[in-house]
Amino acid sequence: MSQPPKRVALLISGGGSNMVALAQSMTGDHPARPVLVLSNDPAAKGLARAAEMGIPTAAVEHRPFKGDRAAFEAALLEPLLAAEPDVICLAGFMRILTGAFTGRFAGRMLNIHPSLLPKYPGLHTHQRALDAGDTEAGCSVHEVIADLDAGPLLGQARVPVLAGDDADSLAARVLVQEHRLYPAVLRRFVAGDRTPVIL
Ligand code: GRF
Repeated sequence: MSQPPKRVALLISGGGSNMVALAQSMTGDHPARPVLVLSNDPAAKGLARAAEMGIPTAAVEHRPFKGDRAAFEAALLEPLLAAEPDVICLAGFMRILTGAFTGRFAGRMLNIHPSLLPKYPGLHTHQRALDAGDTEAGCSVHEVIADLDAGPLLGQARVPVLAGDDADSLAARVLVQEHRLYPAVLRRFVAGDRTPVIL
């Protein structure tokens, strides 16, 4: 008897292009389906894109919590647990999560980061790669642990840094690879395979 599809919740903060790439990949014989797109910003453009795709959405605005992460996360857990996800994908989700939250979903929460980790955790990854004179850049998908942009690597994709690149042109080249890498990693991960995808 065939297994019910794995339930995937997607957390976003902005436009949601990675969320769309993931959701579009979860069709046909894919062993998973998106069950929720959740944002910390009710105005995030990705919420409307998810609704257009027929995926349930929810938003928990972080600002009213004035930096009280535990209280914000307690509110975030309500729609998240109600969706009963097997796997959680952070897809352009820009809030730093506490160890209590990441520990609760240990081994089943993924994140995409626009650098070749362990290089450049945190923000402004493309400008830092340019400032360092790197000849290549890229993106990484990893399991989420308490340490920011750390955790076991599940995939990486590399792009060349070209003459005349600025942070925007490099980010655009990396984003194309993000949209290939994250769906490839998710498909393997929900099948129980943690072998890194290298593009
Ligand atoms: C992406 O580069 C992602 O790696 C980073 O935020 C950017 C926005 O992505 N975390 P999206 O279009 O909102 O998915």
